[in-house]
Parts: sequence; C-alpha cells; structure tokens
Amino acid sequence: MRIAGRHYRTIALAADGCSVEIIDQTLLPFTFKLRRLQSLEDAAQAICEMTVRGAPLIGVTAAYGVALAMRTDPGNASLRRAMTTLGATRPTAVNLHWALARMSETLQPLAPGARAAQAYAEAWAIAEEDVRCCEMIGRHGLKLLQALAARSPGRRLNVLTHCNAGWLACVDWGTALAPIYAAHEDGLPVHVYVDETRPRNQGAALTAFELGAHGIPYTLIVDNAGGHLMQQGQIDVCLVGSDRATAGGDIANKIGTYLKALAARDNDVPFYVALPFSSIDWSINDGLAQIPIENRPAREVTHLAGLDERGRRIEVRIAPTDATAANPAFDVTPARLITGIITERGVAAADYAGLAALYPERSEAR
Ligand code: MRU
Repeated sequence: MRIAGRHYRTIALAADGCSVEIIDQTLLPFTFKLRRLQSLEDAAQAICEMTVRGAPLIGVTAAYGVALAMRTDPGNASLRRAMTTLGATRPTAVNLHWALARMSETLQPLAPGARAAQAYAEAWAIAEEDVRCCEMIGRHGLKLLQALAARSPGRRLNVLTHCNAGWLACVDWGTALAPIYAAHEDGLPVHVYVDETRPRNQGAALTAFELGAHGIPYTLIVDNAGGHLMQQGQIDVCLVGSDRATAGGDIANKIGTYLKALAARDNDVPFYVALPFSSIDWSINDGLAQIPIENRPAREVTHLAGLDERGRRIEVRIAPTDATAANPAFDVTPARLITGIITERGVAAADYAGLAALYPERSEAR
C-alpha cells in the first residue's frame, strides 16, 4: 500500500539481502518507522511484543524468523529451536503454525548447507502467496459489496469493521479491508465504521491510519457503539478478519467480534468474515472448545497506552491500583452467526460443506 507516495509492504527482505525489514506497528499512527530483524530472537520478539501483528503477518514473520535462524546455524538442533521459539510466541492465529509447518516440511529433508537459501525463498513465497490471496479476497468481497450497494442506490455503503484486518495485518491489501479498498477503487461510495478495539486499539491506531492514508472515509467509534448503530439502520454490513477458522466455520477474531455478530443477527445485518486458506485449521471442528485463546497482561486493561507528542510511549492508569483485570484477546464467533466466509477462492457458507466445496484437497486430507 502507498504511504506518502511510496509503496510499502509490511515485511520484506532488506537491501542487505539477509535481514528483514518490518513496519514498527507499536508506533502507529504517529510515527511510520521501519525496523530490521537480524535474528531468530528479533523475529520472535517482534511477534511477542506486537511490533508486527495480524494473523497472516505473524505467519510470514515466523517464516522469515526461521530463515534468519538458518542463516546463523542451519543444523537440525537450530531448526528445532526456531520452531519451538517461534511456535510459542502467540497461540491463537493458526497462520503461525501453518507457516512453521510449511517451513519445516521444506527444510527438514535438505542438507544443512542448502537450508538458508531455501528458507529465504520459502518465506518470500509465503509472503507473495498472502498478497495474491488478499487481492483475490478483495475481488470476491467487492462483488458482495456491489450487490449490497445496489439495494440502495445513491446512498453510501456503511461497513462496520473490528480490530485491524487491513494491509498492516497481512503483507499487503488485508483480508476484511481488501474488499473495501477494491470497492473504493471501483468508485463505490463506501464508508467504514471503525471499532476502536480496546485494549490495544488496533482499530483507532491502525485501521483508521490505513483508511485515512488511502482516502477512504471512516468514522471511529467506541467498541460498544456498533449495536446501537445497527439498531438505527446505520450499518449495511459487518466485515471482519479472523485468526483461526475451524473446519465447521466457527471463527476466532479479536475480542468483541462475537458481540458484533450477535448484534448483527438481532438486526438482520449481514456478518461476513474474510480470511485466506492459511487461517483455516482443518484439524478442529469446535471453535469454542478447541481454539486456544490468548490471555494478555492485565496492564493493557488497567492502563491506556499511547504516544506523547514527541513520539514516546506513555501509559495512563484508568483503574484502581488494586483492580483485578482479565484480558482475553480473542473470542469465538460460532458459524451460525456468520453470513459467509470470503476467501481467495470465493465466498463459502460458514459450515463444513461450504468450506470443503472451496478446498476439496484440504478437506479430503482430513
Ligand atoms: O492481536 P492482533 O492485533 O494480532 O489481532 C489481529 C486480529 O484480530 C485480526 O482481526 C486478525 O488477525 C485478522 S487479520 C487479517
């Protein structure tokens, strides 16, 4: 995507041909700064500290983390260590484990001397594939948005989104935001209601930044406003991303997604989830029982974090000093609340038959 006239991806091989350049997302929306990852530890830290975040981008960063490890030491013990270290960074997004499994399958059969070059090539391929998937999600989602817009000609189309499932969460384009970018480019009068997405405010900091940089009209709302807006007839469609979908079509996404899906159902607002194949976990059926939900530090709830006018990170306490806080970072939206799943292969019903029809090769391998 373009920032100040230059095209960026969220992750790319640096000019030195071995380190990896990322956008430091903890500094957005105030400072756009690139950072270099030089080692496995750098990559793991970037994922843990959410310098990079978003399911597809976490997967690509892990793949490059393996490549960085192979450059230092391509031996079997080093490969195993890379898998364990990166695999333990964040639990919910299945893209991480999918990317690591793909790296392991590619590298394990090779002689150590051949591993580093192949690891970089595979990480690059995973990144390219993600870009192509997101572009196709954009095209399929565009058709849906066009159909919805045709119902009320001459009026703007109001989309509600939660968290950040844009290009910053992927390598380019995004998942949930890709159809919005495509619609905007197609001349559709699209407007986005952006949930702030407490506690880390990915909506306020990242989605608002992305949409603004792309010239897409948006309105930032607090997390609890969506239900009210739906009751008032101000939302035409909800469109969110996902960190892991089950074979049966349940999806995990940023905490609060489930409540939006409930409100959407109560108000007859279509609720779509956009995701690439790498977010589908074919090994599980029951999202509530089987998707691991990340629990994050209580401090993210008891404090508000931001940057001061000099770009320094600051935190302000908003709860009593002895407050107990819980911070589950994701929730599960059951398939029955989802109108459809937009993938790179088309739009599926949120159930096993729907997903299996799009991915016969994956479902047959179960
Ligand atoms: O905790 P985060 O910022 O990594 O959570 C990101 C989300 O929940 C996104 O909606 C999800 O990864 C889909 S991204 C295309």
